[in-house]
Amino acid sequence: MAKSEFASKIGLIAATVGSAVGLGNIWRFPAETQANGGSAFLLLYIICVLVLGIPVMLAEFSLGRGSKSDAIGAFLHFKPHKPWWLVGALAVLTPYLICCYYMVVAGWTLEYLVESVDGNLYAGLSGLDTDDIRAAFATRMSEYISTDVRPVLYTIALLVINAGILLGGVQKGIERLSNVMMPILFVILAIMCVVSLSLPDASEGVRFFLYPDFTKITPGIVINALGQAFFSLSLGMGILITYSAYYPRSTNLMRTSVIVALMSLLVAIMVGLIIFPAIKSFGLDNESLEGATLVFVTLPEIFARMPLSGLWSTLFFTLLFVAALTSCVSIAEVPIATLQDRLHMSRSKAVAVVFIPLMFLSTLCALSFGSLSNITICGQTIFNFLDNITTNIFLPVVSLGVCIFVGWVGPRTLLRDELTNNGTIRSHFSFIITWVIRYLAPGLIVIIFLNHFL
Ligand code: PFF
Repeated sequence: MAKSEFASKIGLIAATVGSAVGLGNIWRFPAETQANGGSAFLLLYIICVLVLGIPVMLAEFSLGRGSKSDAIGAFLHFKPHKPWWLVGALAVLTPYLICCYYMVVAGWTLEYLVESVDGNLYAGLSGLDTDDIRAAFATRMSEYISTDVRPVLYTIALLVINAGILLGGVQKGIERLSNVMMPILFVILAIMCVVSLSLPDASEGVRFFLYPDFTKITPGIVINALGQAFFSLSLGMGILITYSAYYPRSTNLMRTSVIVALMSLLVAIMVGLIIFPAIKSFGLDNESLEGATLVFVTLPEIFARMPLSGLWSTLFFTLLFVAALTSCVSIAEVPIATLQDRLHMSRSKAVAVVFIPLMFLSTLCALSFGSLSNITICGQTIFNFLDNITTNIFLPVVSLGVCIFVGWVGPRTLLRDELTNNGTIRSHFSFIITWVIRYLAPGLIVIIFLNHFL
């Protein structure tokens, strides 16, 4: 069966941006920025995305579009009888494991969206002082995630929504979803930026976020910025190999990678321009934004103290849900494409084979804050174990494998052929991109990797 393709340029960009722009940009980025010195982190993050992120993205695109195959098939295509397909296998296992917990978190955002729409999230707060409001949201969050039934139901709802979209296939499922969701995402971001920037004392937050203070740069911050760049561009997850296999041969990969990287940066900057002015304006800049606190405690507290709380809260959780959904879809597509290409399964069968065990595994993750919290693997709850092993070990290993394969092992001309569409378009940067993929990226990935263990 012929490989599916995205129907339009806009569609393929919307889908790839949809994958890149996820909870990493909206949730992880502000917390990392706050913990790593504000503007200095932003600057390093931008440099990492441009200097390293784009070349590694192009390495994944070259593998996917060059082979027109799934993440395992891409390695087999270029080195048929060598064990390199194992890197591809890890690039399929990793997103599958990420799916198990990302669906749970996406389920939380859906619950908060529903509760914002029906007003329950802000009921019963009148008369409370600011400390009590914060305490009320903190208690609500920990009670919600540790009660068993509701988080499991929302996780299952999310799995069903994802499976429904993915049954539609590349054009009628993924592309159509992205074409609708991405404009919604940018409109909400723009509205919230305007609102936040017009709060009193917003300029102090803007200064913290944008005014560069080079004295704050340390090696640790560089490493964190690099990790954030990789995560936010969806590198090392098999997603970009899988999606680029759906790109037509005429797609300009260089241009696509630059657009995706810039859009992802733009979203992160807009998110910073929403969060930092708001927390400065409400005097919450000393509160930690780590983990779930920013999204489920600090921001609801801010919304509660603003007029039209329900409206801002609904807009924000819609934003979060849209970002999470388009990322979930992309990550679940990786194993689905592999089953279709490797085992010649129909799409509906592949969706069933991926999602039925996922229901069970995600349920375990959802319960790991509640009745399964005492079950641990290597001293961590199931949720935390999967999060740590994928982010800290599997993602860097896959990225390293991709760089070594494209830079040293695969066909020497692979990158050049893909960047120039087999010599039909010009590429001024293929030399420098090859150099980054061969030397700079593997070296830096090894440093990030070791940094977690030393
Ligand atoms: N770039 C995505 C993000 O920033 O959230 C990374 C991602 C994570 C994609 C998890 C998909 C996913 F399921």
